Amino acid sequence: MPSLPTLSGLPGLAVLRAMGRERSLLAGLAAMRQHLGNAFQITLPGFNPVVFVGPESNRHILVSGREDFLWRTESDPVTALLRHGLLVEDGASHDCLRGLMEPPLQRGPVNGHIAAFWNCTAAITDGWADGSTQDMLVEMRKVALLILMETLFAVDFRPDLERLWQPILRSIEFISPGVWLVWPGAPRASHKKELDELDAYLYGIIRDRRAAYAESGQLGDDLLSVLVGHAEMDDDLIRDQLLTMLIAGHDTSTALLAWALYLLGEHPDALAQAQAEARATLSDQLPTPEALKELTFLDTVIKETLRLYPPIHVGNRRAADEIEVKGYPVHKDNRVMYSIYLSHRDPAHWDAPDDFCPARFDRSQTKNSPPAFAYLPFGGGPRNCIGAAFAQVEAKAVLGKILRDFDLKLLPGRVHEHMGATL
Ligand code: HEM
Repeated sequence: MPSLPTLSGLPGLAVLRAMGRERSLLAGLAAMRQHLGNAFQITLPGFNPVVFVGPESNRHILVSGREDFLWRTESDPVTALLRHGLLVEDGASHDCLRGLMEPPLQRGPVNGHIAAFWNCTAAITDGWADGSTQDMLVEMRKVALLILMETLFAVDFRPDLERLWQPILRSIEFISPGVWLVWPGAPRASHKKELDELDAYLYGIIRDRRAAYAESGQLGDDLLSVLVGHAEMDDDLIRDQLLTMLIAGHDTSTALLAWALYLLGEHPDALAQAQAEARATLSDQLPTPEALKELTFLDTVIKETLRLYPPIHVGNRRAADEIEVKGYPVHKDNRVMYSIYLSHRDPAHWDAPDDFCPARFDRSQTKNSPPAFAYLPFGGGPRNCIGAAFAQVEAKAVLGKILRDFDLKLLPGRVHEHMGATL
């Protein structure tokens, strides 16, 4: 069996140049794919992940060969932070948590949150003065945090937003790619104080919900109540799920909303069309699920944003055994990545892959859709995104409201892709 291609010599320099030019590790990965093809291995001291791109290997890793891949890596900061959260569990423990947490995130309950999506957006955008400048990455994080806490935990987060802003950012920074990838034991700035503060808050809302339950004998149908109502979930295990949902459920939406506004700002025609649609479709009343469905152009903008800037740009796994992927050997415990970002820009499946073109998702205009697993912003198979329905309805409601209420203009300046916990 041939070994996976690696970089050396002149192509290696070209990759370094691309990374320097774009100030982005992603540019390096894109350059590697260009030189080595859709399967390759990164060979840095201490960091040797194998990277796969394209529908065939995506399907293999996520569906047909999924038993060969594990999520949990004890030495990763994400495991240290989330402990036994859904995202870092494998096997029966994962499936059991997933079964418990799925119902509040299905389409029906999500449609019931449209009022909260709308009102939490208003809580932030009501503070935008006419003619003011807003940093959309910051503002969209505020919106996404209020929404997540109110809908999934039934908690009003407004009084705590400012106090917990830094602890939340620090927890995201803690799990973002960094020196720890190549040097797992590297000394790191301490995040303990902020993480303890966030934990104190999460244990506090669990305690309050248990007390309210003991007093009234009643629980709501939000996720926190579902977890509290389950006899086998102790406070530590509930805290792990809350922190998982808090991070996975808001940092991703923040990125999607901010990138969508950026792309609209860069494309004034698309902005005008999205605005006209929002103004014609959304009245002064709270939108119904049907009204949001009518925002068909905005829907294509959201899909195209997720293609160009997928918030989770790569899926990480660990080989459970000595295995074979696409005819290449992969050794037990090797880190395996399926690249969502590169799959979404693969010229074999996308015309003008780097261009913003919402029409490619308009079924009335395009006949040839790319094959399954060429487009996978929410992953795929049994470990696909548990919040996919939530995120899509949320994005439509938040962007629809902003577009209906404001005229937006992008300030000049360079925006570049940053590989944090999300893109
Ligand atoms: C635009 C928004 C979002 C995007 C692009 C996104 C993307 C993804 C992707 C690609 C995966 C699979 C990762 C893998 O295969 O390793 C995933 C998993 C996950 N997502 Fe999302 N996500 C989004 C929003 C959300 C929301 C709103 C929530 C919670 C309310 C959430 C919670 C999770 C969790 C818990 C998992 C792990 C599921 C499991 O392992 O069973 N995500 N997400």
